[in-house]
Amino acid sequence: MSSSDVQIAPSVLPADFSRLGEVCQTLEEAGVDRIHWDVMDGVFVPNLTFGPDIIHSCRSKVEIPFEAHLMVVNADDLIPRYVEAGCDLIIVHQEACVHLHRTLSLIRDLGARPAVALNPSTPAITVEHVMDLVEEILVMTVNPGFGGQSYISTMEGKVREVSKMIATSGRDIDLEVDGGISGKTVGGASAAGADVFVAGSAVFNDPEGFTHAVSDIRRHASSARG
Ligand code: DX5
Ligand code: ZN
Repeated sequence: MSSSDVQIAPSVLPADFSRLGEVCQTLEEAGVDRIHWDVMDGVFVPNLTFGPDIIHSCRSKVEIPFEAHLMVVNADDLIPRYVEAGCDLIIVHQEACVHLHRTLSLIRDLGARPAVALNPSTPAITVEHVMDLVEEILVMTVNPGFGGQSYISTMEGKVREVSKMIATSGRDIDLEVDGGISGKTVGGASAAGADVFVAGSAVFNDPEGFTHAVSDIRRHASSARG
């Protein structure tokens, strides 16, 4: 895997919320590929975070894509607002969507890229029948709701399963992992088949800054797949 195949999507959950526009610019300058917005509604997960207006206010500050990780119970109602806010990729949770096929079709029909996230206990097979709709599958490597949690290494088996499902589908689908990703843990996820990596605390807590953190994660991800 060359380093250009690896994509780094920093979660801005740990950011200083009073400086989000500047933070997005600094992350872009540090070489990240996307900005990962953890949208939480206080119901699907206990935390409450970014509304569409906040994301929209940052949209014009950078060129790189925005992805909205919707940890919400009413995704269908909120999707149009996050697409209008400038999110290029919309990630919904399999567990929160009664009509997942319809929800992913809605994202596509609105002109955004559809993606589905799987909580740690959710089997990969649950997305078998939407492989023709998704452009990305996100395997959670923590239980959603908070940053700074420990990486769940047993999820690497699920990453391998999803990677096989993608290969069988014959479609160009990104495989993203999210939670506890750092230079130390990214290798296992990358070797299992992931190519997009969300990192929050590993990026924001690196004493040597964003550029160092991003290149460290990228280097370990690339070298893990040869
Ligand atoms: C958790 C979020 C993750 C989290 C990542 O619900 O989906 O994106 O913020 O943060 P770290 O990298 O610190 O685990
Ligand atoms: Zn996330």
